[in-house]
Amino acid sequence: MRVAVVGATGAVGSTILGVMRERSFAADEIVPFASERSAGRTIAYGERAARASGRSQIGDGDLTVVALSEGAIAGFDLALFSAGSTISAEWAPKFADAGAVVVDNSSQWRMHDDVPLVVSEVNPDALDGHRGIVANPNCTTMQTVMALGPILQAAGIERVVMSSYQAVSGTGQRAVEELHQQAEAVIEAQELPAPTVYPHQIAFNVLPQVETFKDGDDYTTEERKCMRETSKILGRDDIGVSATCARVPVFTGHSVSANVQTRDPLSPDECRQLLGGAPGVTVIDDPANGLYPTALDAAGRDDVLVGRIRRDPSHERCLNLWIVGNNLRKGAATNAVQLAELLHVRGLLRATRA
Ligand SMILES: NC(=O)c1ccc[n+]([C@@H]2O[C@H](COP(=O)([O-])OP(=O)(O)OC[C@H]3O[C@@H](n4cnc5c(N)ncnc54)[C@H](OP(=O)(O)O)[C@@H]3O)[C@@H](O)[C@H]2O)c1
Repeated sequence: MRVAVVGATGAVGSTILGVMRERSFAADEIVPFASERSAGRTIAYGERAARASGRSQIGDGDLTVVALSEGAIAGFDLALFSAGSTISAEWAPKFADAGAVVVDNSSQWRMHDDVPLVVSEVNPDALDGHRGIVANPNCTTMQTVMALGPILQAAGIERVVMSSYQAVSGTGQRAVEELHQQAEAVIEAQELPAPTVYPHQIAFNVLPQVETFKDGDDYTTEERKCMRETSKILGRDDIGVSATCARVPVFTGHSVSANVQTRDPLSPDECRQLLGGAPGVTVIDDPANGLYPTALDAAGRDDVLVGRIRRDPSHERCLNLWIVGNNLRKGAATNAVQLAELLHVRGLLRATRA
């Protein structure tokens, strides 16, 4: 199988390479694509990803970065995209027309009717209907639906109120550097460099804005994604979803507080049991002994961590949950690679080429 990784030098792309290597992905050839700026650079198959996701494992085998161009896109079976929406809008259809199935990490195609939006453990069968492009959900949505999916199956869901505490690596490499530089300046009592990625200082601060307030909307684009994508993945537009997304000075690992109103009664113990048996979810829930998931616990992990499972005292059918996920791994790269594996195993890579 020939695989293109588009955006291979970025935070998500380099993690994709690392995850492919860790999972011994069945590729005969991997071609890393990025912009002209990176063309000709060699990147280690796995090294940078290991560092970004908090693992100590060092990869080997250098790959040479290729600039995205019309002449370079033929002959791929699969293309994993993480180069932003503008690149996906232009280049994903070109790769698909040239015979590849695209798994796209950007928000460009997620809400298109003929593009499945898939979390491998929650709605894998949605892949069957793909027409050349498959979308990987937004990272915050991804980790939240990993917990909501089993609850929906067991007890139904009427409404979800979610509040996120999102790491800077969710914005990309430049944001990671911005937090580093600002934190260093504060600690060394130096003048802070002006923020260039975020509208305000992120070091030692919390910003109630993730992405932008588009066209005068009072919800951000990230909040809109969380609300719309949750409904699409769960296949239910009758579930009320309300989201507030905040950016916090954490390098990697998003945290979500979710208030979930079920249709049928579900006790905290039943919920713990249910999520404890759900694929890709680990319950860490012994608060009396200081055990609950933190963002740092998500480093290097693919499973979504859930704790603080408790009854909402204001509503008998509401539970509160604390959900932590690695935004670069399950929130992006790992799910993309899992979808690629499913497409391969289910014979869905060739389906569109016929
Ligand atoms: N970070 C997350 O946690 C996360 C989670 C889910 C989804 N996503 C989505 O994944 C995408 C990438 O995010 P990221 O955080 O990895 O961003 P990033 O670190 O800024 O990386 C962007 C990548 O795109 C490449 N690129 C930029 N302009 C290009 C061009 N003109 N032609 C070809 N390649 C180009 C860059 O190559 P150069 O190095 O050559 O500039 C780099 O490889 C975004 O759509 C983002 O919304 C991110």
